[in-house]
Amino acid sequence: MTKLAGLRLVERDAGGVDLAFRADVLAGLGEPQKAIPARWFYDDAGSQLFEDITQLPEYYPTRAETEILQTRVAEIAGLIGEGRAVVEFGSGSSVKTPLLLGACRPSAYVPLDIAGDFLRASSAALAEKFPGLPVLPVEADFMRRVELPAEVADLPKLGFFPGSTIGNMIARTATDLLRTMRATLGEGAMLLIGMDLVKDEGTLLAAYDDAQGVTAAFNLNLLARINRELGGDIPLEAFAHEARWNDLFARIEMHLVARRDVTFTVSGQRFAIAAGESIHTENSHKFTKRSGQMLLAAAGWEPRARWTDEAKRFSLVLAESRPARSAP
Ligand code: AVJ
Repeated sequence: MTKLAGLRLVERDAGGVDLAFRADVLAGLGEPQKAIPARWFYDDAGSQLFEDITQLPEYYPTRAETEILQTRVAEIAGLIGEGRAVVEFGSGSSVKTPLLLGACRPSAYVPLDIAGDFLRASSAALAEKFPGLPVLPVEADFMRRVELPAEVADLPKLGFFPGSTIGNMIARTATDLLRTMRATLGEGAMLLIGMDLVKDEGTLLAAYDDAQGVTAAFNLNLLARINRELGGDIPLEAFAHEARWNDLFARIEMHLVARRDVTFTVSGQRFAIAAGESIHTENSHKFTKRSGQMLLAAAGWEPRARWTDEAKRFSLVLAESRPARSAP
């Protein structure tokens, strides 16, 4: 497969270490409740494991969101209009992106992702599927404002943020990101965003603790990545995957629970964790119609339309960037 060059915006030291990764891991392991941001799951191995998760019988979000797009894409495209530059936050390797691109006839496609190799491979595959469509991948952390390629500067944008990745963020971070997206996308932008819905606890827990153990492997790969990239010596067998429902915050939490007292080093720093304590590795917030609309509105995105799958497991919301006003 050919690889597109794209732009690289990730800072590394002379040894190739991702500086933000190291800073996040060292800070997070120093907290009383150890925690590492979920964004670091997605090295090449982690991105592949996530693709495997989307195929699991228990993991309904991908199928539910794809069902919405398959059944509603013409209606969605009608509201979006033709000729926008589609900017995807996270590179699309699924069937969702082709569905959207096929229906809304964009003038360019700009995938943003921090996993560079994965980004270039999936971009090349998409470019083959849509000959004539400029595909302009940017290797960047979309939590910060991204300078888009000059080719799309004057085009109206559609942000595409599927998968309910927004659910990985606590409210203040999610609001920051949604505001940053408005800055990245510019005036007149629209946003098509996936938001997973609150549902019975059994369905949710199974989706994050599957029988085949793929989600466990995905969670543990974070420790393997730390060992690989940050010179760590964390014993993987000393940690167990756990999914918990936090009802107050309406979220699934993933933890790596120490099976025994463990000490290890990362980047030359020593850490200890007691048996039963955990490293908190992910939040996956679930929304209601109201909590979803409220979050978007808080960041200046006015909801225009909303769709769910037949079983009402997942929602897709189309919103428009709203200029600040002095009165309601
Ligand atoms: C990619 C963030 C949407 O939260 O459901 C899947 C990641 N974590 N299984 C999610 C994930 C465990 C996923 N998102």
